Amino acid sequence: MCGIIGYTGKRNALPILLDGLKRLEYRGYDSAGISILNNNSLIRLRAVGQLSALEKRLNDELNKSMADGATGIAHTRWATHGSPTENNAHPHADCADKLHLVHNGIIENYQTLKSSLESAGHIFSSETDTEALAHLIEQEINNGQSLDEAVMTAVQQIKGTLGLAVVAANEPDKIVAARRSSPLLLGIGQGEYFIASDPSAIIPHTSQVIYLKDDEFAIITPAGYEIKSLSGQSVAPRTETIDWSISEITRGGYDTFMEKEIFEGPSAIANALRGRLLPDDGNVKLGGLDAAENKLRYIDKLVIVSCGTSYYAGLAGAMMIEEYAKLPVAVLHASEFRYRDIPLDKNTAVLAISQSGETADTLAAIHEAKKRGLLTLGIVNVVGSSIARETEAGVYNHAGPEISVASTKAFISQLTVLGLLTVYLGRTRTMPLAIGQRIVRELARLPDLTESILKQAHKICAIAERYNSFKNFLYIGRKYNYPTALEGALKLKEISYIHAEGYPGGELKHGPLALVTTDLPTVAIVLRDSIYEKMLSNIQEIRARQGPIIAIATENDARLSELADDIFYMPKTIEMLSPILAVIPLQLFAYEVAKLHGRDIDKPRNLAKSVTVE
Ligand code: F6R
Repeated sequence: MCGIIGYTGKRNALPILLDGLKRLEYRGYDSAGISILNNNSLIRLRAVGQLSALEKRLNDELNKSMADGATGIAHTRWATHGSPTENNAHPHADCADKLHLVHNGIIENYQTLKSSLESAGHIFSSETDTEALAHLIEQEINNGQSLDEAVMTAVQQIKGTLGLAVVAANEPDKIVAARRSSPLLLGIGQGEYFIASDPSAIIPHTSQVIYLKDDEFAIITPAGYEIKSLSGQSVAPRTETIDWSISEITRGGYDTFMEKEIFEGPSAIANALRGRLLPDDGNVKLGGLDAAENKLRYIDKLVIVSCGTSYYAGLAGAMMIEEYAKLPVAVLHASEFRYRDIPLDKNTAVLAISQSGETADTLAAIHEAKKRGLLTLGIVNVVGSSIARETEAGVYNHAGPEISVASTKAFISQLTVLGLLTVYLGRTRTMPLAIGQRIVRELARLPDLTESILKQAHKICAIAERYNSFKNFLYIGRKYNYPTALEGALKLKEISYIHAEGYPGGELKHGPLALVTTDLPTVAIVLRDSIYEKMLSNIQEIRARQGPIIAIATENDARLSELADDIFYMPKTIEMLSPILAVIPLQLFAYEVAKLHGRDIDKPRNLAKSVTVE
């Protein structure tokens, strides 16, 4: 979703901003723009569509002032208020065109603000909520405030969320930034400073960052920076080092980030497990949960809140925790949680699962849980993200940056961490030593097992070629692999735009069987596990209606060859961990089909990587 980068220093800002925008592309956008501040002149260029459209305008209309300017802000916009047009693209300007700003988030009271600003004579030129902020700051400057003061006063009047960066013609070299519930960080270089909504935008320049907290402001010039609270008090700096490398945010020889990230599955699992397994004790060490250790011992219910792929990981995790830690778990779409009146007592913990740690619905669910006084936990990939900071305790995935919009390695990492959490919760309850040892042993084998599946990727390519012309797909699984079926269907629809539905195998006869014909292939996860015979019956129901079947099966399963048209064999592991392996062929299948359809795989239409609006 929308991305921000800002720069002030001694170098030309333009190439740094453009490069930053390219690194933010993965978040999803439909227009982009740049403003350069050079001495007292502010120049802005915006364009609809891909960054190449903005680059073309820059090439055609570049002037010396823009090329030489050493301060600037830039933005990729994902339309919320107002369609993707040049006028609606950021940066937005005040009436006098003396102030430009970029904004992520939503200004909920913009209609009221806009009416009162229009009554005061301000002329709006876009349909966006953001523009109200530009005029509000202009009004405060006209009332005699400095830029810093005007931004603070304006932010105090805003209801909603913001990551904001502002430049003004009469304050050369300066950027004022502010944050409320929309991520923003300050990058610290040598005599140069950056503002970004996401570390990937600035990683080539510095690894030293300060994550702004809610209602904090950063004021940067090439001479230094200052962080202030909403009341204007200086805040002590707290620099952190980002441990991402450039190679982690480049494609490294792969055609797409999605392909690279699927093939990073084994290392994502290894990173999630590193230093956490205690094989002899049949237990795990999760330092991030220490702060909540006592409370966790006494909880009698867990509620998992998450969205999309992370929600499906939660569904599988709930089964693990219920079966092995004997703790009841409810899994809710985060967007539903806060609007339902679910009776929860103080012995309930709420666990947010989020790759980005910035998903607005999941964050809102955590705020709601905190309001109710419940213990909040997180399984989060992005270190220092809002959900990581706002939950009382949690476990990081350490999967490394996931750039492709469609989540792959984060999903298997989330399942791995849920496996660890199951052992953690189980061993403080009734889980016997031998069961703990077995799960820990199997967790340790996962990197090798996933590697062996990836070595057979060519077999999935061949299957994808045979099926890529179908218009609809059904995905079925049961118990632990029902969420895998949902995730497989989601992967196919989001990157190939082919309709796919995930169902529990047992539900076929309650409706979807009516769809089955020779035109509807079913991808069935039929492993040698506790529901194997039931799954066989389900695929027989499909077979009897001539539906083509692609089976994901356990190696050496001879019985399936008579029932399925195509079979992908995978190694055996314990049932609770089997989704981690079974999802890989489904990710590869979706990837290959999308490739055959010529889709923009890393940036599927209408989608954003980090969904920071509710
Ligand atoms: C699908 C996908 C999304 C995300 C969802 C939650 O491939 O990536 O469904 O899983 O938007 O995002 P996070 O995990 O960042 O909270």
